[in-house]
Amino acid sequence: MDARDRVRSGKLVRSVKAVGTARGLRSLRAAWQRRRSDAVGLPRRGPELARVPGPVIGADPEPGGGVVRFARSSLRVRVTAGGAVFCGWDGAEPEPSYALAHGCPEVDERAVLEPDTVGGWRVVSERVTVVVSRTGAVEVRTPGGVPLRRDLPPRWWEPAAAAPGPEGEGRMPEAAGHGPEGCPRWPAGEGARWQQRSEVAADARFFGLGGRSSGPRLRDGRYRLWNTDPGGAFRPGDDPLSLTVPIQLVVADAGTHLVFHDNSWDGAVTLREGEEGEGSGHDRPGRCRLRMEGGPLRYWVIVGTPARVLHGWAALTGSPAVPPAWALGHHHARWGFGDAEEVRRVVAGYRERGLPLSALHLDIDHFAGHRVFTVDSGRFPDLPALAAELRTEGVRLVSIVDPAVKAEPGDAVYDSGSAADVFVRDARGLEVRGEVWPGESVFPDFTDPRARKWWGALYAERLAQGFSGVWHDMNEPAAFGAFGGTTLPRSARHALEGRGGDHREAHNVYGLAMARAGYEGLRELRPQERPFLFSRAGWAGLQRYGGSWSGDVATGWPGLRASLALVLGLGLSGVPYSGPDIGGFTGSPSPELYLRWFQLGAYLPLFRTHSALTAGRREPWEFGPRVLESAAAALRERQRLQPYFITLAQLAARTGAPYVRPVWWRSPKDRALRDCEDAFLLGDALLVAPVLEEGAERRTVRLPRGRWYDTVTGVPYEGPGQVVLDAPLSRIPVLARAGSVVPVTGADGGLELEVWAPVAGRKGGGGVLVEDRGDGWERTEVVRFTTRLRAGEVRVEREDGAAVDHPVRVRGLR
Ligand code: NOJ
Repeated sequence: MDARDRVRSGKLVRSVKAVGTARGLRSLRAAWQRRRSDAVGLPRRGPELARVPGPVIGADPEPGGGVVRFARSSLRVRVTAGGAVFCGWDGAEPEPSYALAHGCPEVDERAVLEPDTVGGWRVVSERVTVVVSRTGAVEVRTPGGVPLRRDLPPRWWEPAAAAPGPEGEGRMPEAAGHGPEGCPRWPAGEGARWQQRSEVAADARFFGLGGRSSGPRLRDGRYRLWNTDPGGAFRPGDDPLSLTVPIQLVVADAGTHLVFHDNSWDGAVTLREGEEGEGSGHDRPGRCRLRMEGGPLRYWVIVGTPARVLHGWAALTGSPAVPPAWALGHHHARWGFGDAEEVRRVVAGYRERGLPLSALHLDIDHFAGHRVFTVDSGRFPDLPALAAELRTEGVRLVSIVDPAVKAEPGDAVYDSGSAADVFVRDARGLEVRGEVWPGESVFPDFTDPRARKWWGALYAERLAQGFSGVWHDMNEPAAFGAFGGTTLPRSARHALEGRGGDHREAHNVYGLAMARAGYEGLRELRPQERPFLFSRAGWAGLQRYGGSWSGDVATGWPGLRASLALVLGLGLSGVPYSGPDIGGFTGSPSPELYLRWFQLGAYLPLFRTHSALTAGRREPWEFGPRVLESAAAALRERQRLQPYFITLAQLAARTGAPYVRPVWWRSPKDRALRDCEDAFLLGDALLVAPVLEEGAERRTVRLPRGRWYDTVTGVPYEGPGQVVLDAPLSRIPVLARAGSVVPVTGADGGLELEVWAPVAGRKGGGGVLVEDRGDGWERTEVVRFTTRLRAGEVRVEREDGAAVDHPVRVRGLR
């Protein structure tokens, strides 16, 4: 940090401190108001009675499956055309749903409901068999009959007034709606909590649940489903974070499956509550318990290979948005760039050192008084001119967008929002207020289509200022709270697409619905360009609108590890585009830590340096010449791999496969790979082994089956197995799969195919190329290649028989 930076950031820190006391008082007031509105706005929790389905009493076939009736509930099983299976208790239907992209998929007419030999029922389909026991346990089996999961009969707790009397008496609750079968229909009365226990194979490993700070393999423990601003930087183990998704990806010897509970209420997943004395590790039965505070008990199961399961997920919840090509380059951000001059100085720093830079992000300090959709004209006198100037050197501006709107008459956004009546209100009809960066603020109700439309139109101001993309922050939604409350009151009212409800149901989909508002607004305002948007909070389906990032990961080696866990976990939860704050959000990383983070980030979809207002600098030249040289090499390599990243983005949209995949992606039965968390596959071709430990200049790398070449030395290694590779400070090990085709930028700037020598006599080599045709909606073509080694020569062919029209560079041939 030079003297100028110190003065500037000192001023900003002082101004933050100056408002501290007033803010503290307002936060206290907000916390008190939150409690008060919940006290009057939420039903009191009185005595409750438990209910289980009871004995089976019959079943009615329906297209795709049928409804199994129990004494005190019913279960609908419906197999859909893509193979995804819907299970809905108590009359729950697939819709309404914030997750489903196109509503409920068509049913698989071939699936049939038939009686089971032991008194239950089963639905048999091509890819999966669902067996429902006499008491309501549900077992999902492969077509070969191997069980993948067993969900034990669920249990509900309902207000005693609404419940049928002591468990076991079979009378139905009066307060609950009744389905045609005489069973409760969701919503079966406010606040019906429920729980479901499940069992999976002893060797199964759990992944998913959105962005979690450790993993990606989810350890035994409790994971809350409630999007939360961790309030300050988070460390591995801190839970929950901003983006939860009730999706579990379960990988076991018997097969892989995904289960998604379509319920946005608060809840918790507890994994493997292994009973004492039952052994450990692979021997312990895999158990899982899901408890929800309300909402429907309905879930989807998709069975298949990891690739197939994620494909099924994208078919259900939407294709990942394809970022514009520039968003796959390097981004630089910081909270507190200060002013236009500093922005120019930073960009010049990249230019003068020949470092590629695609985008620069402006944080809340560029707003006037931290108010969203404004610009501090003192510090940024002509932002559109600055944006245009940067654009000439290939650098785009990206803007932070927070949902909180300063609650002050005269503020243009507040005034127009009030006139349109789009802010969240409490049960008494008063605007809900919370303390956020601009001071006392109100919150748009993004679950109201009118509010989304109004909000989306506001992005015209951002576009006019010259921004090319947006970064949604604080949208859990976050509000500074005393006594631990950091969001809106649970009793706050929401439109929920016209159904009406409260924050207990709307909270987790708030960021998702904000993303929809922003995405749809940008599409309307600039229809010829693909929007670039990424969001801190989200839920199932966020990928339709954009990506995410780590949030405020703490600077330190554990934070570096957490960064990788997050990106992998988000990818397995259906959000393939994300990345961490390189260098960590807080403090100052050591030069070594910064470099290792940078080297990892260069292989992640969102490659962005970012840090807090009070943190040290993150420009690559701030850490000495050695770091600069190696960071420059990482930047150049990222630029060289740009066509590969573009291909992966297009493939993610077509198949749901994340760019960054766990090493077990193609070999989920390899138990050692399932536990490997310090390396990842980038697409099908590359294996990246970042250095996550201080001082390490060599590291072990676990290889999946096949031959792998060190991309720098060209040395081949045979998998499966473990190898020790050099990882000098100048680079991290990256290996290429034998036979793969990696589209890269050649020395002349044109597209080139880098082909890694296949193994003689082995089949299956090849790769894919999808070329970018601009930042709009142009149709792209998927070109598939096959590779083979014949008579010592590598042959590359297009699968469609056309001539290969890009230069080919063969690597790894000895
Ligand atoms: C919290 C975000 O996570 C962080 O990235 C941002 O810099 C600050 N808010 C300030 O806007």
